[in-house]
Amino acid sequence: MDKSDMVEITFYDEEKTHLRANQKGSTILETALHNNYPLYHLCGGNAKCTTCRVFVSDGLDLLSNRNEREQALADRKGWPKEIRLACQTEVFGNIGVRRIIRDNKDLKTVTSESKSSRTGEECFAVILFLDIKGFTAFTEANLPYDVVFVLNRFFHEMSEPILNNGGEIDKFIGDGILAFFQIPFRERLKQSSKEEMETSKKETMKSAIRSCLRMFDQLKKFNQEMKDRFNFTFDIRLGMHAGNVIYGDIGHSEFKSQTVLGDVVNVASRLEALNKKTDTKFLVSDVIYNAIQSSLSIDKKVITKLRGKSESMTAYSVTGFKQNDPILLIQKYFDQLNVESPQWFQNFENELEGIRNQNPRTIPNLEKETSEQRNLFDTFERIIEKLGNPVALKNEITRLAKFYQSIAFSNDEITELVPILLRSMKESSPSLWNETIDAYQKQVWTEITIQVIETKINLAI
Ligand code: FES
Repeated sequence: MDKSDMVEITFYDEEKTHLRANQKGSTILETALHNNYPLYHLCGGNAKCTTCRVFVSDGLDLLSNRNEREQALADRKGWPKEIRLACQTEVFGNIGVRRIIRDNKDLKTVTSESKSSRTGEECFAVILFLDIKGFTAFTEANLPYDVVFVLNRFFHEMSEPILNNGGEIDKFIGDGILAFFQIPFRERLKQSSKEEMETSKKETMKSAIRSCLRMFDQLKKFNQEMKDRFNFTFDIRLGMHAGNVIYGDIGHSEFKSQTVLGDVVNVASRLEALNKKTDTKFLVSDVIYNAIQSSLSIDKKVITKLRGKSESMTAYSVTGFKQNDPILLIQKYFDQLNVESPQWFQNFENELEGIRNQNPRTIPNLEKETSEQRNLFDTFERIIEKLGNPVALKNEITRLAKFYQSIAFSNDEITELVPILLRSMKESSPSLWNETIDAYQKQVWTEITIQVIETKINLAI
C-alpha cells in the first residue's frame, strides 16, 4: 500500500490506540473489527441499533457524509455533527475518535433510549418556572388527601395553558412547574435564514407569554372553586428567561424524562423567586423583554443581581400584551359568556337540531359516535383553548369533523352553522359583543370550518 493511502484511526479511550485501516474508505467499524478493537455493533452494522456511535474529535472533514439512514437517525435524535455511526462512516484520512459505549452500563443507557428520544442537543428554548404562593399554609390546614387532590387539580389547570400554547412540561417540582417552549419542530428542520430564526424565537416567546396570561385567567376560575370548597385561594409567581439550553432524555435507564439544563434554566428559576422580594407576579428577563418589548405591557422594571451572578440584570414585571391578542381575547370572551349566559350553547344546539330535522338523512354506518363526540360543547371549548397550538387543535378539528360525519351533515350545512353559532353567542349576551369580538370570531370560526370540511373530506376518502 502506498504510504499516502494509509489511514489511521486513533481511539482516545482509556488509552490511546492507533488502528491502521485496511484501505482508504473503510468504515470506522470495519477498521475496529480488522484490528480486534472492541466496538459495540449490536445490529451487525445496519444503522439500526446506534450502539457503534463514536464521537469524532479530529478529522471530521476526512469522513464520508452521512448517508440517508444515518442522517434520519441523527435528525431524530438531534445529534451534533461530531457523533457518527461507526458502521456507516467511511474514513479517508487520519482521524481521532472516542467510543461512546464502552461497557455494559453504557450499553444499558443507550439501549433504553426510545426511538424518538433525544440524546442531547443544544437548542433555543423559553424557560418558565411557576410556583404557588402560600401553598404551605394550605397543607398545614388541610388533610393530606385534600392537599394531594388540590395540588393535582392545580397542576392540571396550570399545565393546560402551557400545553395549549405549544409548551412542554419538564417536571413538577414540589408545588411548582418547570416548563419550556421550543421553536416548533417543523421550523427547526427548515434551513431558515437568521431573520426567520429570530422571528420564530419571538413567536415562541409570545406563545410562552400567552400561556402565562391564560394561567392567570385559569387561576381565577380555580380560585372561585377553591374558595367554595376549602375557603382558600391561591396565587402564583412566574419567572421566564430564554436562550440556549441542553435538552435530552435524562435519568436512570428505566426512568428517563426529557429535561432542560443550563444557565438559562437557573436564571428563570431565580427570577421566579425574585417575585417575592419585588412584590410582583410575573418577571421576565431582559432577553425576553428586549426581543418583544413592543408587544409587552409592564408595570415594573427591576435591576437586580441574581444569586451566583457577578453582573446585574434587568427584569420586567409583565401585565399583558400591549395590543389585543386575538386568541386570548376569544378565550376570555368564552369565559365571560359561559358565566353570564350559559344557555347560549343550548340555543345553538336547538338550531343545529332544526337543520338536522329538516332533511331526512341516512346516518352512515360510521365508527360509533362516542360520548365525547356527542358532547359538542366540550369539543368547542377545547377548540377555543387550543387555538394557540396548531398540532393539538388538529385533533379537535378531527373530532368535530367526525361528529358532523356521524350525523350526516353536508359541507353546506356545516358552513351554515357559522352565522348561527355567532348569532347564538351575540343574542345570548349582547353586552359582551363588540366589533373586535365580531371580527375575531368570524375569522376564527371561518378558518375552523374550512379545516373541518377539509378533514371531513379526507376522512371520507
Ligand atoms: S452497528 Fe448498529 S448502528 Fe452501527
